Amino acid sequence: MTTSERVEAAIADRREIVNDAITEQLPVKSPERLYSASRYLLDAGGKRLRPTILLLTAEAVSEVEPMDGDYRTFPSPAGGEVDVLTAAVAIEVIQSFTLIHDDIMDDDDLRRGVPAVHREYDLETAILAGDTLYSKAFEYMLDTGAPADRSVRALDELATTCTEICEGQALDVDFEGRDGVTTDEYLEMVEFKTAVLYAAASSIPAILLGSDDETVDALHGYGLDIGRAFQIQDDLLDLTVPSDTLGKQRGSDLIEGKQTIITLHARSQGVDVDGLVGEDPTDAEIEAAVERLEAAGSIEYARGMAADLVESGKGRLDVLPEGESRNLLSDIADFLVERGY
Ligand code: IPE
Ligand code: IPE
Ligand code: MG
Ligand code: MG
Ligand code: MG
Repeated sequence: MTTSERVEAAIADRREIVNDAITEQLPVKSPERLYSASRYLLDAGGKRLRPTILLLTAEAVSEVEPMDGDYRTFPSPAGGEVDVLTAAVAIEVIQSFTLIHDDIMDDDDLRRGVPAVHREYDLETAILAGDTLYSKAFEYMLDTGAPADRSVRALDELATTCTEICEGQALDVDFEGRDGVTTDEYLEMVEFKTAVLYAAASSIPAILLGSDDETVDALHGYGLDIGRAFQIQDDLLDLTVPSDTLGKQRGSDLIEGKQTIITLHARSQGVDVDGLVGEDPTDAEIEAAVERLEAAGSIEYARGMAADLVESGKGRLDVLPEGESRNLLSDIADFLVERGY
């Protein structure tokens, strides 16, 4: 098995367990339209990268064999057991909430290969489904059986994360059509809109299992680094991968006039990146735009930045006990920027 096959198998194994837990913990009940809309994207697919990272971190901290036992409760080295799987569900439910609202903001029709929630249902239902998932996540995070002080700290981390996601999304919208956005501003924006959820996924299991502050902080830093790299790769995939494979519309960022690290670099090279804003481009037109970005060295520049962030993130894993779970956390960091979907 190649490294990337090993990582994909590790994700697939954990995805199945997380999916079963979601079905169990988020039943469709009355009012049915609200709950079916809340479940709709979760049932449609998704890579489950964040809950996988959460579970791998829990394995590493607990020093249990990967995928061993009931794979719900993990022994805390500081004493007791914690239902970490429920925390993984909470993180994926937050991911789903952000996607529903993001598609409204980005005016996107396709998500996870199916119509976006506001298209399949309606705007009101999509807003409410997002809000329901948002608050459910806090209910779940309170329900892990961790000692009260650790639960409070995990909830605090989750709340801060959600506030920052909103701040990042506000910056993302604000940057559309704004001149003079800097690389640092871009990196701050993606840290907030995307990387903080990776940081929560990697640090919350350590908090719940009673790790020391040095471990929690290092894992938080790992999440921030690989999360920024992940978003740079997302920006690259938006340009290069057909909608069928991506499960979301190719070229959406060019159409919406988003500032990505690729377009920022291209602008600095004098390339016009606004030609497709507000258009309904063909694949050939997107391809032509990508060729201009490639010629300006912007694609290469973005890849280099993502690779540096991955290396930095991987370096922070030294704080964890050596073993298969730590190795997978390192390999998954590479996978985030090598993936084609
Ligand atoms: C998409 O995240 C949202 C971003 C932060 C770019 P993913 O690419 O992880 O989406 P799913 O969960 O697999 O659908
Ligand atoms: C998404 O960024 C960030 C959040 C969902 C918080 P994007 O807008 O690039 O995500 P996609 O490409 O639509 O998945
Ligand atoms: Mg979007
Ligand atoms: Mg967006
Ligand atoms: Mg995107």
